[in-house]
Amino acid sequence: MDTSVNVLCIGAGYVGGPTMAVIADRCRHARVTVVDVNEARIAAWNSDALPIFEPGLDDVVRRARGRNLFFSTDIEAGIRDADIIFVSVNALTKTFEEGAGRAADLQYWEKTARQILAHSTRGKIVVEKSTLPVRTAEAMERILNSGERGLRFEVVSNPEFLAEGTAIKDLERPDRVLVGSHETPAGANARRAVTDLYATWVPRDRIIESNLWSAELSKLTANAFLAQRISSINSISALCEVTEADVDEVAYAIGTDSRIGPRFLKASVGFGGSCFRKDILNLVYISESYGLDEVARYWESVVRMNDWQEARFVRRMLASMFNTVAGKRIALFGFAFKADTGDTRESPALAVTRQLLDEHAHVVITDPQALANARIDTARLEGAIEYEPDPYAAAKGAHAIAVLTEWEVYRTLDYARLLAAMERPAFVFDGRNILDHRRLFEMGFSVYAVGKRPLKHV
Ligand code: UDX
Ligand code: UDX
Repeated sequence: MDTSVNVLCIGAGYVGGPTMAVIADRCRHARVTVVDVNEARIAAWNSDALPIFEPGLDDVVRRARGRNLFFSTDIEAGIRDADIIFVSVNALTKTFEEGAGRAADLQYWEKTARQILAHSTRGKIVVEKSTLPVRTAEAMERILNSGERGLRFEVVSNPEFLAEGTAIKDLERPDRVLVGSHETPAGANARRAVTDLYATWVPRDRIIESNLWSAELSKLTANAFLAQRISSINSISALCEVTEADVDEVAYAIGTDSRIGPRFLKASVGFGGSCFRKDILNLVYISESYGLDEVARYWESVVRMNDWQEARFVRRMLASMFNTVAGKRIALFGFAFKADTGDTRESPALAVTRQLLDEHAHVVITDPQALANARIDTARLEGAIEYEPDPYAAAKGAHAIAVLTEWEVYRTLDYARLLAAMERPAFVFDGRNILDHRRLFEMGFSVYAVGKRPLKHV
């Protein structure tokens, strides 16, 4: 094993930060530096208030920071010293011209590749960590190997499979680590250098090696399959609401078939997060660009179903609240795209907020971790919005509570106390199916859960 390897990560975000912290924690022989253009973010990584909320992250950072884990804004020096460079800058969906709304916006990637080339004095291994469209490595490589000094760079794809909220666990005990490279001697060497890092703590049989394109495509496909399961069960939830079926019972019954399996079958107000939508739309775009329109339409429907599910949730609120929410105070419990994160990217809560404001509702948002992001996301929306850290204060005088994130704290609130402070009739819309619906109904709430017959008093 190499006793001193310099690892650099460009991009100190939700992926780069936790991944490098775990690599440093587990690989004492590696010196790990994380750089970012965002000075405030780097300052936060060097402080006691880390820039992202992730269970277990504080401990890992505390153990490794200053020992073999460093956060810095000096990108040039970082590049110069590095043997292996992970690139984890954000690849957003393009918002303009060709491919707008679907293709990935690769300008940061290209900029980063040029930066690496400009500041390198020897060849290096460059690892794609961000999710990118298939064949991005090829473009990267062309830029990296275009220099006049004859430096050789080897590009490796090592897609990230961590989920937010469980990032540390996913990194410490991954189902698998995937490393793709060219099938040349230089490619194989680069692949080995990256797998050796992980092999410090991940069993070898969980490290999958493949060619570069398979690794890239596997990441998009994994996310597309996960999202597809949610859209599938959400489509069935609509059917359950109009029949006597209960979506949790259906999910349980099908999930016990070992070929189907129980996970990712939780019906909800919709999936969010920075990856699912973007990755599927990338898949759609790539398929179209190869003339595979049927493939494109197939995967696109997963996203369409999700948009429909979010809209349907609000339509159901409207219909049950006598076809108007104008002027009514509505408490949104949760704004994060899932529990245990402060991240709100693509959160269904944003779509719900937007549609409620269009209906002139008075929206009060509460969330234990995501209020700051909620404020930023909704800053440009017009209408009555409040942000309230205390769920009891949020529900005071409200006509309805809508649970949009499955935070554990919402299960254990004193609902009798909430009800006492609300307008009547009082409604609960459980967009995550986490509450005890029968008990709430008996208490006096009219309860609407996803994929279930309503329990209503009015
Ligand atoms: C990750 C993956 O990289 C991305 O492909 C996936 O779609 C979402 O998850 P994430 O870590 O969540 O991205 O993104 P973010 O938290 O936005 O972090 C990216 C960081 O890169 C930011 O801190 C940004 O300042 C930094 N950056 C961006 C640079 O340092 N240089 C750049 O040129 C661009
Ligand atoms: C996802 C992938 O799981 C991860 O492997 C990849 O690296 C990045 O994208 P993440 O977006 O962090 O991770 O969260 P995930 O747990 O996958 O949840 C995504 C969304 O689906 C959330 O909004 C979640 O609430 C929703 N979801 C998940 C459901 O609605 N039902 C489910 O059964 C599971």
